[in-house]
Amino acid sequence: MPEKVGVGIIGCGGMGRHHARNLANIPEVGVRAYADIRLEAAEAIKSEFGGDFCTAEAHELLADDRIDVALICTHHHLHKLYAVEAAQAGKHIFVEKPLALTIEECQEIERAVEAADVKLMVGFQARFSPFINKLKEVIPHPLVTFGQLVDPKWGDQSWANDPIEGGGNVLSQGCHLFDMMYWFNESEPVTIHAEGGNFTHPNIPEITDSVVATIQYANGAVGSVVVGDFGAPALTGKSFYELFGGDKTGTLYGYYSEPAIKFWGADIEEFTMTDLPEAERNSSAAHGYVGEMRALIDWVAEDIDPVMAAKAKDGTRATMLGVKAIESIKTGAPQRIS
Ligand SMILES: NC(=O)c1ccc[n+]([C@@H]2O[C@H](COP(=O)([O-])OP(=O)(O)OC[C@H]3O[C@@H](n4cnc5c(N)ncnc54)[C@H](O)[C@@H]3O)[C@@H](O)[C@H]2O)c1
Repeated sequence: MPEKVGVGIIGCGGMGRHHARNLANIPEVGVRAYADIRLEAAEAIKSEFGGDFCTAEAHELLADDRIDVALICTHHHLHKLYAVEAAQAGKHIFVEKPLALTIEECQEIERAVEAADVKLMVGFQARFSPFINKLKEVIPHPLVTFGQLVDPKWGDQSWANDPIEGGGNVLSQGCHLFDMMYWFNESEPVTIHAEGGNFTHPNIPEITDSVVATIQYANGAVGSVVVGDFGAPALTGKSFYELFGGDKTGTLYGYYSEPAIKFWGADIEEFTMTDLPEAERNSSAAHGYVGEMRALIDWVAEDIDPVMAAKAKDGTRATMLGVKAIESIKTGAPQRIS
């Protein structure tokens, strides 16, 4: 491995830029190349954070020997294409969530990564959030977990609502929630039983925008989830978790505005931004994006296993839960997760 970890970013929109900014603060990283079909978007990031070249052709970036790890930050329909191509080119991979929109595509990525013996991390950055991990630390074995991720209606024209490019709120964003529910329980989901459907986007009948579901885990614990773009929970904030451990409860609210946890029955009563080290009192660190990039680089450079990170099988599980929730709504029957 050369002195610096060579990084290439494919997709230079919002998340490509966010990761470039955090990588710029890691001295062992050299971002070499940026790929975007809008070359001007690639050039704008390069002029801000430095690098060797920009291209409109992602495969040019993937063919470059100076690149050790490719960050795939495109819309969802391209994740499988570039992840498989990156694996075949021998690159390690970071792919934004969801890993892909179908179970089959996720499994194809898993096979490509295994065959090429490369590392792959999925962008479930909340696993690195100090708030999420404080909740996990105080209540390591929840009996019942409640999770909510609810947005005001996303625009019909948003790419994330395109059935092919984005998949709609439940697949596009719900994957974060499904992964978090696993992360809290650390037990495989066995079944999911969902109700819901298309409540807010009648003009896009292919997508599912509203899910209320129950998940049964192998260890006997249960989870209850509410996800979609059908409103704004003014009191709790969009992302809200409640872990019931029998003798202890932890409630995380205001995650995207002023994150805070209140505990009941635990040695600690409250956990807020002021409990974080000063350097972590910013949104990117509090939500896990900073820790995620640090762990990725340590994995690639030093082979330090990022125990908190979502790997390929975690990405597949999260997509599977969304897909099976939709199947459950359509069939009216609980679905097995396997
Ligand atoms: N983890 C999170 O919190 C989080 C938040 C927002 C978005 N995301 C994810 O990040 C990914 C990107 O979302 P975004 O909001 O940055 O989207 P975006 O629209 O801002 O950026 C996507 C970029 O990809 C480029 N692109 C399109 N086709 C391409 C191709 N063939 N090759 C190279 N580039 C191409 C577009 O021109 C655009 O610049 C998605 O997977 C999304 O779900 C994650």
